[in-house]
Amino acid sequence: MERNDRKGRLRLDILGVTVLLAVLAGVGLTVLLQGLRDGQAQTITENIPKGPALFKGWQKPDVAILVSGQMHGYLQPCGCSEPQYGGLIRRYNCVKSLREKDWPLVAVDLGDIATAASPQAVLKYTTAMKVLNLMGYSAIAVGKNEFYLPLEVVEGHALNNPMPRVLAANLSERVFEPWIIADKVSPKIGIIGLIGPSVVSQVSKFPNVKFAKNNRDVIDRSLKELGAKKPELVVMLYEGTFKEAQSAAQFFAAERKKNAQLPNINIILCLEEEEEPSGVPRQVEDTWILGIGHKGRYVGVIGAYRDASKPTKFALKYQLVSMGPELNTPKDKLDGHPVMAIFEEYAKDVKQGGYLTKFPRTKHPVQLAFPNSRYVGSERCADCHPHAFKVWSDSRHSHAFKTLVDASPLKYPPLRHFDGECVSCHTVGFNYQSGFADPTNTIKQNQRLINVGCESCHGPCSAHESNPQNVAIHKLINPYKSDPKAPPAIQKQRQNQLDHFCQKCHDIDNDVNWGKVPFHVKWVDRGIIHMTPKK
Ligand code: HEC
Ligand code: HEC
Ligand code: HEC
Ligand code: HEC
Repeated sequence: MERNDRKGRLRLDILGVTVLLAVLAGVGLTVLLQGLRDGQAQTITENIPKGPALFKGWQKPDVAILVSGQMHGYLQPCGCSEPQYGGLIRRYNCVKSLREKDWPLVAVDLGDIATAASPQAVLKYTTAMKVLNLMGYSAIAVGKNEFYLPLEVVEGHALNNPMPRVLAANLSERVFEPWIIADKVSPKIGIIGLIGPSVVSQVSKFPNVKFAKNNRDVIDRSLKELGAKKPELVVMLYEGTFKEAQSAAQFFAAERKKNAQLPNINIILCLEEEEEPSGVPRQVEDTWILGIGHKGRYVGVIGAYRDASKPTKFALKYQLVSMGPELNTPKDKLDGHPVMAIFEEYAKDVKQGGYLTKFPRTKHPVQLAFPNSRYVGSERCADCHPHAFKVWSDSRHSHAFKTLVDASPLKYPPLRHFDGECVSCHTVGFNYQSGFADPTNTIKQNQRLINVGCESCHGPCSAHESNPQNVAIHKLINPYKSDPKAPPAIQKQRQNQLDHFCQKCHDIDNDVNWGKVPFHVKWVDRGIIHMTPKK
């Protein structure tokens, strides 16, 4: 997974260069050269300036615009491995440091702040919105994931909270505003929210979701209204692809040539197709188009500088900022951190709401063949498989649950062991029937299923336990059995399958280092393998 990820980054880097060249051949040189200087080679997290090196060469801008988006419910890195990027505590610290520079600051978010599929999605959404409010965000658009919440939840926020405002110019019969002028900053900044055709077609299936019949009329009207307020800079939050944003920018530029009352759109924030954003905005006509990547691992900061000779013009600079460990709050200061206070409330709500039992469960392959097979817990294997049991007891898998309990309260919000988004990989069979926290389990049964146990890899074993010699069950509970007599290619293939299986838990988010060491190191050298010794 990690390897694939690197390939992705490399490709983007190359893409960044080609785009730059194409753009350089075209227009608007001052802005572009600055974009080049500030943004060059910033597509890889490690290469982005950090700490004091950030904003090097920037004078105080007349206004700084902080952009974020596509957080997808990633409130906080889980802490399973290092380094992980993102998290709202770091973003808060970043915003705070910009405000401490005394820069006039406007913060906006593209949307898709929610996660698409989790029983905790609504709780996470309201938690994230509380934090954006705390950070003083002005506006957020409506992303695709917000339609899954459902949208009434978003309306509830919009009606009951002054900030951030929720913008969607082309969504009909809803409480959202099309545009706003940012409060209390000069120069005057207009912000407009728009949902692009690709997202419109994906969310139109939801009941009571209607879009303006004639999109162009609605957009024209919104832009005219906004133009009448004489904004000096306009940011469009555009829930659409780069291609769509590009043609939107061309369309607006053409309309503006016909009607000078329409405002110029200086910046379009659009959906980023790659996980990693480019550090260089792309210019179309007079508009900068940019995406900010996924999971809240970056924010972008645009510095706007009024042109001395032509005060209605602004030169723009761009800096991508990675939300890395250097933005951490020291552990002993976390206790009083305002974002942590919001997270603690969230953790309490998760526990009290009994969310552990609300996760969907499917049948494990063993249960498809043996429907009555249940999870029984690792202790029950000890007598018949003493060697495997000893090896497992000495491995970190055998105390993965204690790790969650101990993670509280300071390093993370407390009560992590009541959060299904944590226990899913730190217990046995969480996604399957009769696995940890299945609503039909007794407390005692759940107690046997804490930690990563034998059945996390072998599946529910009650059928095997009551019929140990059944060879059909042996096959099902040992799908990755090796065969030393098989041709090397087959053995390699089996190992790849096993590697792939481990990554169900050791995935790219939670174990960022998985791909950095060969598989046999993790399976053999780190003491997970447990072949029964020959007598
Ligand atoms: C009553 C004794 C007994 C218990 C309890 C038991 N097993 Fe077994 N298990 C056996 C026997 C016998 C075999 C077949 C011979 C062998 O491979 O040791 C076996 C085989 C296996 C195999 C290898 C299958 C193959 O041939 O590829 C796995 C995996 C396994 N058991 C897992 C477990 C797990 C996990 C538990 C606990 C949930 C468990 N067993 C509990 C007796 C038991
Ligand atoms: C059900 C989820 C799950 C599966 C499946 C899983 N692991 Fe783990 N693994 C964990 C967790 C959680 C930890 C951390 C436990 C702790 O430290 O408390 C861990 C820790 C480890 C460690 C120690 C930390 C390290 O990286 O050195 C090794 C090695 C490891 N696992 C190897 C494997 C291998 C090999 C497989 C596949 C054969 C595998 N794991 C399958 C969840 C899983
Ligand atoms: C998709 C599976 C998965 C999920 C979900 C998950 N973890 Fe983990 N966790 C792992 C694995 C795998 C490891 C071992 C990583 C390693 O050692 O490299 C681990 C290790 C840890 C560790 C030990 C880190 C260390 O350095 O010793 C902590 C603490 C932890 N997880 C906390 C959490 C919390 C809190 C959550 C929920 C927010 C969570 N985990 C969710 C898979 C997961
Ligand atoms: C991280 C995943 C994982 C965990 C946890 C795990 N196993 Fe296994 N186990 C495997 C894999 C994979 C194999 C097949 C290895 C092979 O054939 O190369 C295996 C093989 C076995 C075998 C057959 C050994 C042989 O000599 O052929 C037995 C028996 C067994 N496991 C029992 C257990 C028991 C009992 C536990 C808990 C105490 C346990 N396993 C925990 C992944 C796991």
